[in-house]
Amino acid sequence: MEKGIYYSRWGGPEELRFGTLPERKCIDPDRIKLNSGEILLQIRAISVNPIDWKILSGSQKPVTLPLFPRIFGTDFAGTVYRAGAGAQKKGFSVGTRVMGLVSPLNKGSGRQWLKVRADHCLIMPESVSFEEGAALPEACISALLATSFSRKMKPGKALLFGASGGVGSAVLQILASRGWDVSAVCRDDQKSALRHLGARECLDRYSWRDELSGKPEWDAVVDCPAAVIRDNPSGLLKKGGVYAPVYIPDSFIPFQIIRTLLWFFTPYKTSLFIGYPSKGRMRQIQMLLQSATFKPLIDSIHIAENIVSAVDKSRRGGVLGKIIVTF
Ligand SMILES: NC(=O)c1ccc[n+]([C@@H]2O[C@H](COP(=O)([O-])OP(=O)(O)OC[C@H]3O[C@@H](n4cnc5c(N)ncnc54)[C@H](OP(=O)(O)O)[C@@H]3O)[C@@H](O)[C@H]2O)c1
Repeated sequence: MEKGIYYSRWGGPEELRFGTLPERKCIDPDRIKLNSGEILLQIRAISVNPIDWKILSGSQKPVTLPLFPRIFGTDFAGTVYRAGAGAQKKGFSVGTRVMGLVSPLNKGSGRQWLKVRADHCLIMPESVSFEEGAALPEACISALLATSFSRKMKPGKALLFGASGGVGSAVLQILASRGWDVSAVCRDDQKSALRHLGARECLDRYSWRDELSGKPEWDAVVDCPAAVIRDNPSGLLKKGGVYAPVYIPDSFIPFQIIRTLLWFFTPYKTSLFIGYPSKGRMRQIQMLLQSATFKPLIDSIHIAENIVSAVDKSRRGGVLGKIIVTF
């Protein structure tokens, strides 16, 4: 019988269980039917994303039906156990090491066997471990989208909130590699790691305002945790500057869409997105991995039996990079 990480009602990390999945949820790896473009994976690692515990909490209820038990997790890395004919033509054969993500609204990656579309996966380079592979997809897609402005603008000064997080640590590396001068807002004990990833300076998570000149001096503000979304980001930005919030702090997604439309009337440019899997986005991650300098930042690795403490750690904060859970 298949094992997985699941929950049977909305709540905190204590609702999570690792164990045999209810029979109707189990996959029989030798019998399950695959479409031509699909692969069946044996999962080796997943990572914890805030969206996973936000869905668990029930805060996304209007778009996540209570089809319990729900499987936890978005990102994954594992090996191909079986592949459809079309997937095989694209290089996915038995034993191929892959990473990818599911849409967490209707699927979960935290299980022994996972059936997915091959074009939502990426064949992992030999140099990337399962733990690193599981750390990358959601954070990298979000970071690439949040930094899309830097493809059109010439490099300038960027202020980055949440630089120590999964998305922020990828944003930092992308902007630094494109020649941006990044000031990272973080905790004291995270400063040296973030300087190592490319931050020119680090500002204190709690007193960053005191360290600024008070003038609008930034060409871009990338705000992973929505730290200044309710203030006036234009007070920080130079004329024509970009504000890129990664998280939009509203209770559920339809409301975020309405809010996004309203943002067209703000005095600054915004860069807004929803991170979901697609072929083009996976290709962009592949290009990122080909850059010798890009490395996922991993905080800690936990076994699946310890899922409750792993998710609790992510929720409490003070984490440096991604939290990984292995099977
Ligand atoms: N739009 C999308 O499609 C999309 C995609 C991915 C993620 N997200 C959202 O984006 C956010 C970041 O994701 P993530 O994976 O990077 O999360 P994460 O790994 O938990 O990182 C969040 C970071 O933000 C920092 N932070 C929190 N509040 C802060 C504040 N007031 N001032 C400065 N820093 C603060 C945290 O620092 P401390 O630990 O010190 O608190 C941490 O470094 C999450 O809310 C996530 O749900 C949205």
